[in-house]
Formats: sequence, C-alpha cells, structure tokens
Amino acid sequence: MVSDSAAEEPSIPYDIPTSARAYGWMLGGKDNYEVDRNFLLSTLPHFPECVDIARQNREFLYRAVRHLTREAGIRQFLDMGCGLPTDDNVHQVARRFVPDARVVYVDIDPIVLAHGRALLADDASTAVITADMRDQEAVLAHPDVARLIDFDEPVAVLFLSVVHHLTDADDPRRVLRTVLDRAAPGSLLGLSQVVADDPARGAAMTAHISGSGVPWQTRTPAEVDALLDGLEPLDPGLVDLVDWRPDPEQPALAPVHDELRPYLGATDAKTGIYEYGGVLRKP
Ligand SMILES: C[S@@+](CC[C@H](N)C(=O)[O-])C[C@H]1O[C@@H](n2cnc3c(N)ncnc32)[C@H](O)[C@@H]1O
Repeated sequence: MVSDSAAEEPSIPYDIPTSARAYGWMLGGKDNYEVDRNFLLSTLPHFPECVDIARQNREFLYRAVRHLTREAGIRQFLDMGCGLPTDDNVHQVARRFVPDARVVYVDIDPIVLAHGRALLADDASTAVITADMRDQEAVLAHPDVARLIDFDEPVAVLFLSVVHHLTDADDPRRVLRTVLDRAAPGSLLGLSQVVADDPARGAAMTAHISGSGVPWQTRTPAEVDALLDGLEPLDPGLVDLVDWRPDPEQPALAPVHDELRPYLGATDAKTGIYEYGGVLRKP
C-alpha cells in the first residue's frame, strides 16, 4: 500500500545520479538514466569492485531476511533505504517463511515510491514511504509506521547498503539506533556498508562518489564497529558479506548488463574494498 499522495512527492532528479537508480542498474534493473550509467562507468575504472559489491549485498539481503523470519521469528520489518523494487524484495522473501509478515519500506528517492506503487497497490501489510532516514523522528511519526509496526514485539530494522550514505555529520550512530532504542528486547538490526581496509583508498572513494553528487562516506570496518557498541552480533559477527552464512543454493539475481560484465569478479582479488555488515540483536 502506498499512502503518500502524488501532490506530496518531491520531483525526481534527472541531472545528478541517484544511488537507487545506479544500484538498480548493477542488479540488472532498467529504471535508470544516462546520468546514472555514466556515473558508474566513470567510477568503475577506479573502483571495479562496485558491481560485485552491489550484488553480494543483495544476496546478503535474502539470507538475512530468511534468517530473521525463519530462525529469529521476526514478523515485522522497517527497511531504511530500501531501493527500487527488484526480485526478492524484503516482503517477498519474508513471506516465504512468515506469510503475514509486515514491512514498511523507506527511501529518500521518489522513484522508489513511484515503482513501489505498482508493486504494492493491493497489499495492506506493506507500505512504502518517501522519507529521509536521517530524520528518524519523521519516519517514526509516519502513519504507516504506526499502522504496521508494533513496538511491543521484536522488529527488524534494516539499513542494507545504506550506512555509507550517512556521513559522520549525520550522526550515523543516532540514525542506526533510534528505532532500536524504542523497540522491544530481541529486536534486530541488519546493516551493511562499503568499507576499505586502507583509509586512504576509502577517502579516495568518498571523494569520487560524493563529488558526483551522491552523499557518501566509505569507512573502515573498525569505524563501523564503533557505531554498534552494546548490541550482540549474531554469528559470524560483522564480516565481508560473502562470508555471512554463505549459501550457494540461494536464488540467483538477474543477469548483469553487458556494459558491466567486465567488472564481474573484481572482488576475487581481495583488494580490501568490500561490503561489510551483519545482523545484531538488541539485548
Ligand atoms: C545501495 S541502495 C540499497 C538498497 C537496498 N537497501 C538493498 O540493500 O538492496 C541505497 C538506497 O538508500 C537510499 N537512501 C540514500 N540516502 C537515504 C536517506 N537519507 N534516506 C532514505 N533513503 C536513502 C537510496 O535512495 C537507495 O535507494
């Protein structure tokens, strides 16, 4: 269900790349513009890992949501920075294991709402809202959050491949933990972000991507860990996502577009740039 009226929607930017559209292209999607493709084609010669990283993250999403429903018994999700709908969105994965799972999708990019409308029109247990996750109070005050999320029962809050969109000036610790602070014990946080083991490489990546107009901060794994004190990481802890409960049998993603195919496999070289994350429990 989509509650935001067309009159409230911010306009879609066509002159700068957006994360939702560029990421969607790497997953095999078609909802993007030349500005998004040019952004990636100028980034990949410097950071060829990006295509693998995007796809590894999306595969992690499936495994994390499967674990959260099937093993952890979670029935409700807040998906911050959910991205454009593609195959196996959170509500679709969750409902394979918990048929009445409820999901609120949140994204800053209005194209997500436009496409979510088609996907969720008749679905009363799922909502997509356009909001800036940096304003967690606004997210929590949204009527669809009140309608679908019961804070007296454990909730899973997802920040998948979005923590790098929070700069230190955004106070990422506050953003990541506002919902958890109010949620029932046993609630879970799923998160991931692009990291660089070498801070100088990370700074170069940050300069390149944020210079293109996409808010971005590559961190080191230790900088991510520092945001999460007091939470209990589930096995195997916070890791390169390819090492988070790998499952060669999980559903395959859509094929990679031909222009991006040369970059497939770039992370095999273990360059020290990868997507880092995991699932943590509120005690
Ligand atoms: C790389 S995509 C990840 C999509 C999805 N979470 C996944 O893991 O497949 C990042 C998404 O975060 C969204 N995003 C970036 N900054 C945001 C903000 N401040 N508030 C809400 N969404 C944001 C982007 O629009 C984009 O859709």
